[in-house]
Amino acid sequence: MRILIVGVGALGGTVATRALRAGMPVWLATRTADSAQVLRSSGLRVSGIGGTSTAECVHVAPIAEYAGQKFELIVLATKAHDALEAAPFLLNLLVSGGALLPIQNGGVSQMLSDRLGSGAVLGGLSNLGATMIQPGVYEQRNAGYILIGELAGGFSQRVGNIAKTLSVAVETRVTPNLRGALWAKLLINCSVTTLGAIAARTMRQYITSFSGKEVFRHTYGEALSVALGNGTRPERMIVEPIPPGWHGTIVPGNDYDAWIEQIVAVYGDLKPSMLQDFERGRQTEVDFINGYVARLGRQIGVPIAMNAAIVDMVHAIEQRQLRPDSSRIDELLRKVE
Ligand SMILES: NC(=O)c1ccc[n+]([C@@H]2O[C@H](COP(=O)([O-])OP(=O)(O)OC[C@H]3O[C@@H](n4cnc5c(N)ncnc54)[C@H](OP(=O)(O)O)[C@@H]3O)[C@@H](O)[C@H]2O)c1
Repeated sequence: MRILIVGVGALGGTVATRALRAGMPVWLATRTADSAQVLRSSGLRVSGIGGTSTAECVHVAPIAEYAGQKFELIVLATKAHDALEAAPFLLNLLVSGGALLPIQNGGVSQMLSDRLGSGAVLGGLSNLGATMIQPGVYEQRNAGYILIGELAGGFSQRVGNIAKTLSVAVETRVTPNLRGALWAKLLINCSVTTLGAIAARTMRQYITSFSGKEVFRHTYGEALSVALGNGTRPERMIVEPIPPGWHGTIVPGNDYDAWIEQIVAVYGDLKPSMLQDFERGRQTEVDFINGYVARLGRQIGVPIAMNAAIVDMVHAIEQRQLRPDSSRIDELLRKVE
């Protein structure tokens, strides 16, 4: 299976190094010719969980240079906004029956499938965490896996074949309810990650305040209502995604508090990746996280006031009009009450 990995950052670089090390026929696409040149001369190296791997002989070129070539599988590992931009070009690089596998957080797979109207688009997500120390040098941060599936649901031969192929490099699992898995991750990204970034706090820290609890409850509850209203039952990943006592809205109480404790135990100490984007002055993926929830909620008539307020606030922080701070959580609560 000829494979192209597009985006050689933290995640793409980690998968690419492990795949090349395993002897897989992998080509890499960067955004610019300069980045390709750097990787060609440095080679790739991953350390951390899963051990150290290196790859010296790397076929890497800027994405535009792949025009006219053909691949059976293209793994799209850019950030969400770049994925949307690159995908139409990439579809032309697929052999008949080939697959485009986006592994971004949020609604990217579904948005690509809707926009491109192509059955070539699969659903994917990564529970594998990685950082880029410098171009060509990556660190795998956990023993996670890539989860893939058909967006329409069910199992397919092609998903099975791709999972088997990729598993030689990194653990790859298959689910018949990929949309449910994407939503389970999206619920956590909308609430744990985005709110933590806005507050410049971990969830364990921001959830101790009254406003932290309330904003989490509104954000998560809206997003879950949108998922269910859109016909998707979020799939259990680590914690059951539907809180106990759910009746179209979150019902606070002891059972709910215990469920929150489970979420804090798993995700409570993570530094939100969006906070790193703020610190580095980078565009965030909020339009594909809370923004995706808000757009879909408007379309299907589910209230999304908190998620919409969060999107506006994240954009204001990106534009340096606001700074991430715990007081932002109080402001969000005032906005929706
Ligand atoms: N890292 C993780 O642990 C992790 C875990 C789960 C999910 N994810 C998701 O995976 C996606 C990638 O994350 P990441 O952390 O790997 O991001 P990243 O480190 O920023 O890597 C993205 C890479 O894509 C490149 N790129 C941008 N546009 C491109 C184009 N048109 N053609 C080829 N390459 C292009 C970027 O190059 P430039 O720098 O030149 O723009 C950058 O090297 C995100 O959606 C993220 O949410 C990441």
